[in-house]
Amino acid sequence: MSSSLSPSTSKPTIFIVGFGRNIGSGVARKFKKEGFNVAVASRTVEQMDVLSDGYLAVKMDVGKVADIERGFEEMEQVYGPAAVVIYNVAHATFAPAGPSNPLSISFQNFYANVALSGVHAFEVARLANAGFDRLPENTPRLFIATGNVLSSMTDRVLITGMNRFYYASEVSPQGGPQNPPDADTHGLVFHRLYQQRVQGHWEVRFVRGGAPWQPRPKPCSLGIILNPA
Ligand SMILES: NC(=O)c1ccc[n+]([C@@H]2O[C@H](COP(=O)([O-])OP(=O)(O)OC[C@H]3O[C@@H](n4cnc5c(N)ncnc54)[C@H](OP(=O)(O)O)[C@@H]3O)[C@@H](O)[C@H]2O)c1
Repeated sequence: MSSSLSPSTSKPTIFIVGFGRNIGSGVARKFKKEGFNVAVASRTVEQMDVLSDGYLAVKMDVGKVADIERGFEEMEQVYGPAAVVIYNVAHATFAPAGPSNPLSISFQNFYANVALSGVHAFEVARLANAGFDRLPENTPRLFIATGNVLSSMTDRVLITGMNRFYYASEVSPQGGPQNPPDADTHGLVFHRLYQQRVQGHWEVRFVRGGAPWQPRPKPCSLGIILNPA
C-alpha cells in the first residue's frame, strides 16, 4: 500500500483494476486531476514506476478470485465503495502455430485467458456493483471495461445487469484495433463518460484524441455510374 496517502471519503474514488504503464496510468492521471481518490491494482503494482504518491496500491491477481475479494476489501477500507471501476487487465494469448491454428494454444493458456476476459471480469464487476449499491443514491457510478473491439459474453451480461456499463475501445481510423492504445485519450474519454450522467450506447469506439469513431462512407456505385468513361 502506498505510504503517502491522504484518504478522503468525501471525494469520489476510481479503482483501476489492471493498472499499468499505459492506459491505467493515463486514466489515473486524469481522474486524479479531476479530484478523485485513486486506487490501483495489479499483481506487481508496488514495483511500478508509474505509481504516483497519493495512489492507493492494491496488490491483486485477478486470476485468483480470493485476491479480487481481498483487493476490493482493502480499497474500501480506505476509501469506501468506488464510484468508478475500470477493468483494464491485459490478457493476450497468441496461438504458437499462428492465427490460422487457434487449437495450438495450450488448455492452460486458453483457460487463463477466458478466466481473465470473462469469468473473473464478471467477479470484478459484481463487486463493483455491490459497492455502487452502497453509495448515496444520487452519486454517479460507472464501470468501464477497456476494450480492443472484441467484446465478450461477460460484457453482454453487464449491459443488462449494471446501472452504467461501457465497453470502450480506441480504434484506428479504419475502425480496427489500435496498437498501442493511447493512455491520455482513454483518460479523456473515460472521464467524459463519467460526466455523462445517463447511460448511452454500451459500446463506445473512439479514435486518438477522443473523438467518437465514425465509419467512413463507402463509395457508392452511383459514383461510378456518374463518372463518364
Ligand atoms: N484499443 C485497442 O485496440 C487495444 C489494443 C491493445 C490493448 N487494448 C486493451 O487495453 C487494455 C490494457 O492495455 P494497456 O496498454 O493499458 O496495458 P498495460 O499498460 O500493460 O496494463 C495492463 C496491466 O494489466 C495487469 N495485469 C495483467 N494480468 C493481471 C492479473 N492477472 N491480475 C491483475 N492485473 C493484471 C498488468 O500488471 P501486472 O503484470 O502487475 O499484473 C498490466 O500492468 C486491455 O484491456 C486491452 O484489451 C486495447
